[in-house]
Amino acid sequence: DVAPTPITHFSETEVAMAEAVQKFANDVILPKVREMDEAEEMDPTIVEQLFEQGIMGVEIPEEYGGAGMNFTAAIVGIEELARVDPSVSVMVDVHNTLVNTAVIRWGSEALKKKYLPKLATNTVGSFCLSEPVSGSDAFALATKATATENGYKINGSKMWITNSMEAEFFIVFANLKPEQGYKGISAFIVDKGMKGFSIAKKEKKLGIKASSTCVLNFDDVEVPKENLLGQEGQGYKYAIQILNEGRIGIGAQMTGLALGAWENAVKYVWNDRKQFGKLVGEFQGMQHQIAQSYTEIAAARALVYNAARKKEAGEDFVMDAAMAKLYASQVAGRVSGLAVEWMGGMGFVREGLAEKFFRDSKIGAIYEGTSNIQLNTIAKMLQKEYTA
Ligand code: CAA
Ligand code: FAD
Repeated sequence: DVAPTPITHFSETEVAMAEAVQKFANDVILPKVREMDEAEEMDPTIVEQLFEQGIMGVEIPEEYGGAGMNFTAAIVGIEELARVDPSVSVMVDVHNTLVNTAVIRWGSEALKKKYLPKLATNTVGSFCLSEPVSGSDAFALATKATATENGYKINGSKMWITNSMEAEFFIVFANLKPEQGYKGISAFIVDKGMKGFSIAKKEKKLGIKASSTCVLNFDDVEVPKENLLGQEGQGYKYAIQILNEGRIGIGAQMTGLALGAWENAVKYVWNDRKQFGKLVGEFQGMQHQIAQSYTEIAAARALVYNAARKKEAGEDFVMDAAMAKLYASQVAGRVSGLAVEWMGGMGFVREGLAEKFFRDSKIGAIYEGTSNIQLNTIAKMLQKEYTA
């Protein structure tokens, strides 16, 4: 039951990834989706199995205990998970595309040896950039780092941090030299057990309820020197470079969600529900919406995988990633909303998953840069290109 795909050049490994994750999502996650949404909690046994399946260390090199696969394989996994549960998908997305990648790319050999095997096998990670005072204006963050004899001390608060309840590893952006503006931002690794670190509040949300989102406090958290990620003052560059890539992951989450919502509804209208003596999916008004929606999903997927391929080829992909995330989240909102309508009252009740896909879709236009931020990026790059 592999989704029809507009991408004809997935490698064997990527196809194997899609099939394995699809099976895992249907066998293990699907039976728990509704329960986790109602409880607003991720089932810990799912997290354990994600590690066992190698889905949490897709790009971590084999020498550090990971699966040693490519970026597209991670994207395929994120998409397949979202087809069943966008909450599990975003956990895997943040862990792989934001956290693991940052350690692989900028971690010292000692940090890589210490943390990558854990991130591949048993330790969930979080990416802590946003704050109460800084969301879109991420580089205006107020969390401060001060140099100490043995390292750094971190003070401040982070907000909206995905995976907070499950994570034991936090990449924290803090300003070490506020007098230099955003060029003073550095990235630090904080372990859950460090003194002065605490989870202050767990948010109650509209969608992706099983994914934890919390406020974190840092009260004189002492971080050893070796837990500086990369170089001092480079934190803002790391943050946005990672987010440029992460946005492809959110694009994939949204195309997976759209496909999941579409499939859930068409199975009903083409097999189960009859009105006026025929299946409701046979009315042309329905068929055209169904066909239009599938076309939009295919277009969004083409943007997502094109951005992934350009990134892998070492080409400039920033605008492609922004377009993929922007458009995929718009399609997810549109298609999951229509899918509710196609199912009539049955789409609106919490017995099925249609209403959940619809609620889950809204976040695509908000996190990893709102739709306006993606449009700003696209416009900036186009204007640069077309200005004489
Ligand atoms: N790629 C690379 N570099 C970029 C860039 C991009 N897309 N956008 C900006 N920059 C660089 C600029 O080149 C500049 O660097 P230099 O001074 O070294 O040249 C610097 O960033 C500042 O540039 P601007 O003044 O143009 O940008 P800004 O300060 O107005 O905004 C931004 C920059 C904060 C990155 C903003 O564009 C943005 O993306 N905001 C959204 C923040 C975000 O995505 N947060 C996500 C948090 S994590 C998350 O959400 C995870 C999850 O939910 C699952
Ligand atoms: P604001 O920045 O206050 O934006 C409000 C409105 O103003 C938006 O419509 C926005 O588009 C618009 N706006 C702002 N600036 C401009 C502009 N220059 N031009 C045009 N319009 C503009 N952050 C993390 O660091 N790590 C995480 O793991 C994480 N997970 C998240 C999970 C969830 C469920 C949520 C809700 C958020 C998460 N975030 C995370 C934070 C997320 O990245 C921010 O919410 C997002 O970047 C928007 O910031 P904001 O909420 O402060 O909105």
